[in-house]
Amino acid sequence: MTRVVRFHEHGGPEVLRIEDVDTRDPGRGEVQIRVKALGLNRAEALLRSGNYIETPPLPSGLGLEAAGLVEAVGAGVDDFVPGEAVSVVPPLSMVRWPAYGELATFPARHVVKHPPSLGWEAAAAVWMQYLTAYGALIDLARLRRGDFVVITAASSSVGLAAIQIARKVGATPIAVTRTSVKRQALLDAGATHVIALKEEDLPVRLAEITGPTGVRVVFDPIGGPLFEPLTAAMSPGGILIEYGGLSPEPTPFPLFTVLSKCLTLRGYLVHEIIGDPVRLEAAKAFILGGLASGSLRPVIARTFPFDQIVEAHRFLESNEQFGKIVVTI
Ligand SMILES: NC(=O)c1ccc[n+]([C@@H]2O[C@H](COP(=O)([O-])OP(=O)(O)OC[C@H]3O[C@@H](n4cnc5c(N)ncnc54)[C@H](OP(=O)(O)O)[C@@H]3O)[C@@H](O)[C@H]2O)c1
Repeated sequence: MTRVVRFHEHGGPEVLRIEDVDTRDPGRGEVQIRVKALGLNRAEALLRSGNYIETPPLPSGLGLEAAGLVEAVGAGVDDFVPGEAVSVVPPLSMVRWPAYGELATFPARHVVKHPPSLGWEAAAAVWMQYLTAYGALIDLARLRRGDFVVITAASSSVGLAAIQIARKVGATPIAVTRTSVKRQALLDAGATHVIALKEEDLPVRLAEITGPTGVRVVFDPIGGPLFEPLTAAMSPGGILIEYGGLSPEPTPFPLFTVLSKCLTLRGYLVHEIIGDPVRLEAAKAFILGGLASGSLRPVIARTFPFDQIVEAHRFLESNEQFGKIVVTI
């Protein structure tokens, strides 16, 4: 038996339960991990509440990111041996390969030997945030020195990863956050400029910062009414990558702005990178290089023990966090 987190109905954090379930042996091509730390993601709160791109049969497990020691390997797995320290690139389905448990099983191609200098907590906080930001900014937008890039929901784990990646390539990250509460922390985290959405005039501030150059790249998980001022601030030929739907409001389509500036509006899921072995290897090399050099450093907002998984989800949905929420086992 092993302890895992499951939910039997959709709802708030309180539907999460820790339960004893039978352990299954890893199948062909799979690696079983004794989990030391979990990285929490917004997607898990969406699956739990019934609003995610996957619809699970109930009861369901959940969880996309883990770090720990290899416990056992299935047939056909030659790259890993029990006892090795590994972390997990999010699998394409968290319903099929849920991470929240003392033991968790993943396809071997999603298991990575991370740099030993990373502790368990940091190792559980690497892959979702950096792969998501890398895929959008580097693989798709080809972000480069001299570009202005607007990063909304800047204090999210993905937002902070995007700020670090922008600096790594010499671009200028403009962080957009709801209020000024996190302003100083965002500057300390590498943002060149910070705009507090509810307290400042976004178009005016963006015009002041970028001058006639405009913003070439926008990386946004919010959508809604923000779309119009963001596209209005973009330079001709710019690209807006939309990767979430945090705003509950409808998203207008700014037809004439998009037309007149030949903008690219691009929907994006990190699965696009994870599902392509060539692009995934390039992403892993970029991220492992950044971790080794220190230019990429996961920011941990707060750590909870496994037994407090409900409190950890409450904190995730409080939006008070600055960076990644981690659960240790
Ligand atoms: N497409 C993909 O493949 C992919 C992959 C990973 C994540 N995502 C998406 O990326 C986003 C961030 O994920 P995460 O796990 O890093 O999240 P997170 O750490 O939970 O992000 C929370 C932050 O988002 C901002 N926020 C939350 N609700 C908002 C709202 N209604 N309006 C404006 N800002 C809001 C707040 O930042 P401030 O306090 O700074 O305002 C908040 O602190 C989520 O939308 C997630 O679904 C997408």
